[in-house]
Amino acid sequence: MDVLTTPAAMQDWSRAHRAEGRRVGVVPTMGALHHGHVALVDAVRRCADVTVVTIFVNPLQFNLDADFDSYPRPIDDDLDRCRDAGVDAVYAPTAAAMYPPGFQTHVEPGDLAERLEGPMRPGHFRGVVTVVAKLLAATRADVAAFGRKDFQQLAIIRRMVSDLDLDVEILGVPIVREHDGLAMSSRNARLTTPDRAAAVVVSQALGRAERSFRAGERDAGALRSTAVDHLSAEPRASVEYVEVVDADTLDPVTRVATPAHIAAAAWFGDVRLIDNVLLDEQ
Ligand code: PAJ
Repeated sequence: MDVLTTPAAMQDWSRAHRAEGRRVGVVPTMGALHHGHVALVDAVRRCADVTVVTIFVNPLQFNLDADFDSYPRPIDDDLDRCRDAGVDAVYAPTAAAMYPPGFQTHVEPGDLAERLEGPMRPGHFRGVVTVVAKLLAATRADVAAFGRKDFQQLAIIRRMVSDLDLDVEILGVPIVREHDGLAMSSRNARLTTPDRAAAVVVSQALGRAERSFRAGERDAGALRSTAVDHLSAEPRASVEYVEVVDADTLDPVTRVATPAHIAAAAWFGDVRLIDNVLLDEQ
């Protein structure tokens, strides 16, 4: 497995593989890899000839310095996990290589970035799409995978790829969960033991709303209340939002007539967790 640390080295690597007719796949990550990331690697490997994992804790997308500073960076474990998963190259640039002095160009997302996570995290999605554009350019990827855990991020990235005519196929990969249902996340490692036990309420709450939807409930307010009631009953959880939004526009809906997501964000101590479930007739 090759480890590359500069955009130029990454581009050379990729150019050589593409010259041989190989399809390059990429999984962008911020490291602290878990089974969710590995599911993305598996998805990319099924439709690419060589697979790159990028590991970069992107300062541009953090709005709290403390969150950036405390973000886990177990690089040796991550490299082992990539080797085990059959990854061909890891691209782990330094912040200086990504944002050298004089850096000033950003990608500006539109309305999709104003919903859900947007108001809570000003500038976050601008940082995400800017770094993803750079990672796609450095890896010259033909295909890239993103998780549905961050379905708003996935929607914004699909929009950017379409709006900027980027020649890359985007795969959306289902959420990978712990045994008790908690969506896997690099931030879970920072939960205290009691908060980790309590955090199961997030997926439970969304699961209750989903069951109610399957039983015929279509009123978004009722579905939302089902989830909020369950979350609010857990004293360790501090609910930031629970919303039912259209799957395409991410606009809030009052009735679920077309595919929608019910999405939640909640704090446990100083750890913020997000999760969502797709509400679809099929
Ligand atoms: P990170 O949080 O490391 O996640 C990398 C990718 O893994 C994202 O596409 C995310 O949706 C996916 N992922 C995380 N947990 C998952 C789970 N439990 N099941 C399925 N997929 C999961 O998202 C980012 O990094 C960054 O914003 C990034 C896109 C790399 C840009 O910096």
